[in-house]
Amino acid sequence: MKTGIPNHIAVIMDGNGRWAKARHLPRAFGHRKGAEALRELLKSAIEIGIPYMTFYSFSSENWSRPQSEINDIMGLLRRYLQSELATFHKAGIRLKVIGDRSRLADDIILLIEDAERQTSDNDKLTVVMALSYGGRQEIVEAARNVALKVQSGSLDATEISEELFEKELYTKDIPDPDLLIRTSGEMRISNFLLWQLAYSEMVFVEKNWPDFTKKDLLFAIEEYQKRDRRYGSAAETA
Ligand code: FPP
Repeated sequence: MKTGIPNHIAVIMDGNGRWAKARHLPRAFGHRKGAEALRELLKSAIEIGIPYMTFYSFSSENWSRPQSEINDIMGLLRRYLQSELATFHKAGIRLKVIGDRSRLADDIILLIEDAERQTSDNDKLTVVMALSYGGRQEIVEAARNVALKVQSGSLDATEISEELFEKELYTKDIPDPDLLIRTSGEMRISNFLLWQLAYSEMVFVEKNWPDFTKKDLLFAIEEYQKRDRRYGSAAETA
């Protein structure tokens, strides 16, 4: 039996579109409600005492959505970074963004850099936002960096280990998630944290993301606490 609060919870916030469709509203409303749900959940995470949370906010595959929807999500992100920064900071949240920033608008990149800088010493809750993020792309980029080091002679190929490889990932300073939650009833990883989720427990929730509340988070944590985490061994290790 695993007791205690997970150190790191990763969340795939899915179902904004379906939430809106069920109410005959444009998809943009679903994303707006999703952003509100995220804001409330961060408060809950602090109340519960979860040290790390990672949210899949925009995947590398999401760039293939209609431009109008991309604009809606980016607009929301821009407003979010502007309006929430002071609140985040006051609440003791440290913000970190992972993903391919080069595809984001210049002003959004600046907002992210500013938010990361301002909140870098906070220690209540680390919020990792995966933006323009793809797990395969992250691993390929890490492999390329390792290869370049070998090519330049600064690294010997025999020194390549899991520990060394992890240092090339976006998440190099972040512990692996203990628990993955995905909303909206889908049961897939969808290219999220492919390396980091190797031993994470997974909880799938039927509700769409805008309806996900503190109560649902607590339920997922209870579910996690019932699981035996064996990390591939026969003995109970946790
Ligand atoms: C998944 O729902 C959600 C997204 C692709 C975007 C996530 C965005 C938010 C939660 C809003 C907050 C974001 C920021 C950046 C502050 P979906 O559109 O895939 O829903 P569907 O599967 O029902 O169509």
